[in-house]
Amino acid sequence: MAGVGTLMVDWDRWPLHQKRGNHAFVKLFLFVFLLGFSFRVIFFFFSDSFASLPLSQPADVKDGRESLRDSQPVEDGVALEHRVEDSQKDKCDLFKGEWISNPSGPAYTNESCLFIESPQNCMKNGRPDTGYLYWRWKPYGCEVPQFDAKKFLDVMKDKSWAMIGDSILRNHVQSLICLLVKVEVPIEVYHDKMFRSRRWHFSAHNFTLSVIWSPFLVKAENFDHENGASSSIIDLHLDILDEKWISQYQNFNYILISGGPWFLRPAIYWENNKIIGCHSCQDKNNLSEISMEYSFRKALQLVFNFFAVSDHKPFILYRTYPVAHFENAEWNRGGTCNRTVPYKEGEFMGTDLEHLMRNVELDEFKNAAVNVARLKLLDTYKLSLLRPDGHSGPYRTFHPFDNKNNSVTIQNDCLHWCLPGPIDSWNELVMELVLNRS
Ligand SMILES: *[C@@H]1O[C@H](CO)[C@@H](O)[C@H](O)[C@H]1NC(C)=O
Ligand SMILES: *[C@@H]1O[C@H](CO)[C@@H](O)[C@H](O)[C@H]1NC(C)=O
Ligand SMILES: *[C@@H]1O[C@H](CO)[C@@H](O)[C@H](O)[C@H]1NC(C)=O
Ligand SMILES: *[C@@H]1O[C@H](CO)[C@@H](O)[C@H](O)[C@H]1NC(C)=O
Ligand SMILES: *[C@@H]1O[C@H](CO)[C@@H](O)[C@H](O)[C@H]1NC(C)=O
Repeated sequence: MAGVGTLMVDWDRWPLHQKRGNHAFVKLFLFVFLLGFSFRVIFFFFSDSFASLPLSQPADVKDGRESLRDSQPVEDGVALEHRVEDSQKDKCDLFKGEWISNPSGPAYTNESCLFIESPQNCMKNGRPDTGYLYWRWKPYGCEVPQFDAKKFLDVMKDKSWAMIGDSILRNHVQSLICLLVKVEVPIEVYHDKMFRSRRWHFSAHNFTLSVIWSPFLVKAENFDHENGASSSIIDLHLDILDEKWISQYQNFNYILISGGPWFLRPAIYWENNKIIGCHSCQDKNNLSEISMEYSFRKALQLVFNFFAVSDHKPFILYRTYPVAHFENAEWNRGGTCNRTVPYKEGEFMGTDLEHLMRNVELDEFKNAAVNVARLKLLDTYKLSLLRPDGHSGPYRTFHPFDNKNNSVTIQNDCLHWCLPGPIDSWNELVMELVLNRS
């Protein structure tokens, strides 16, 4: 795509929804789309790290470029706009930009940070290429300052942070700790049985950092099985928030929260203590099908409304939907993510499914931003799209190719990220949003 560097595809909104006058078409399209989905969506649980986040894609979507090309509504609605260099810093959109070469490399290594969990420790696990470590995110028209651990910890003195959501948040919190350890090494003061919720204390700064495992944000039953497998279907209460995080809400000065892929799973939906329907149940219980778009929207509305009405007003960042980069095949059929350099802008657009879910959260965020003080969007979606080279891939396990047994298919993780890696940039954006743009 010649000249794509100066063009920007505007996908802030799913183009379908912009056609407000065309509701019947939208409904029909969504109906067909979701009906097709419910039979094709597949889930997997095969390791602790992976079990913490389900992946699914329609079987006919191999990667985002194809899905975008094949999808008539998107093609019709995609608007190309000329990129405008913003000269004023306050106008600069932190989330529009490019990955540029960064010869100085990452701020830490697997040797200097001992907090990297094994599935993220690509260096230790034998990933041979290192080029993916030498890039940094550069918004058009401004710079994101390097992460300054001392400044961050000084500002966070006597404060408490919580990262609330699924395993991508755990990936993110490890990155934050690794960036902070050169100034102070924290002590772990709490972990749950499965090490999914954890809390660390940086005593010299009296800074508390928590990660809270709450992948639905609302009350969910029958989902958190220790062996990773479950015969019973998830029960999701769309009008009750997850006690796990709201019980601690008063303690937090800063919250980074996200919903996401767990809403794709088959689940029975409850409201008012009554079953209202089911998602992807294949009629087992004679329940009417309800889309995950509905449940995701309801959950986010409940969360944002809670923020709006609570007296306690922490600083809140909402992080957008994660990006998966499986290519060549689906995630469960040997799909890989073995690229070693970032995409150029416009080379990869993500999947229809991601756009659908992203539009739900952008809608709800916009509605909430009116009512919730100190709420900001951490829009990592587009910048993450460009980093197919940053995932753990096969290096989620130790030296995966050492045993040359071809009968074993190597499972790639093209959703979580190597550390160090691209999501270290997320923390630079967090720091900028919290310290300089609040
Ligand atoms: C770090 O990674 C290197 C390979 O890049 C490996 O030799 C070393 O053992 C690892 N160290 C730790 C502490 O993980
Ligand atoms: C540490 O911070 C907490 C709030 O996060 C505060 O309640 C406590 O008093 C602080 N402790 C000291 C010793 O300052
Ligand atoms: C489901 O509905 C059909 C038709 O309405 C009925 O014949 C069947 O008994 C129902 N099954 C269950 C498990 O309720
Ligand atoms: C990436 O994986 C695909 C499919 O497994 C393979 O054909 C290709 O050669 C691989 N590329 C690299 C650079 O290893
Ligand atoms: C290859 O792996 C399979 C499945 O794990 C195992 O049954 C078989 O014995 C292995 N063969 C060799 C030569 O290691």
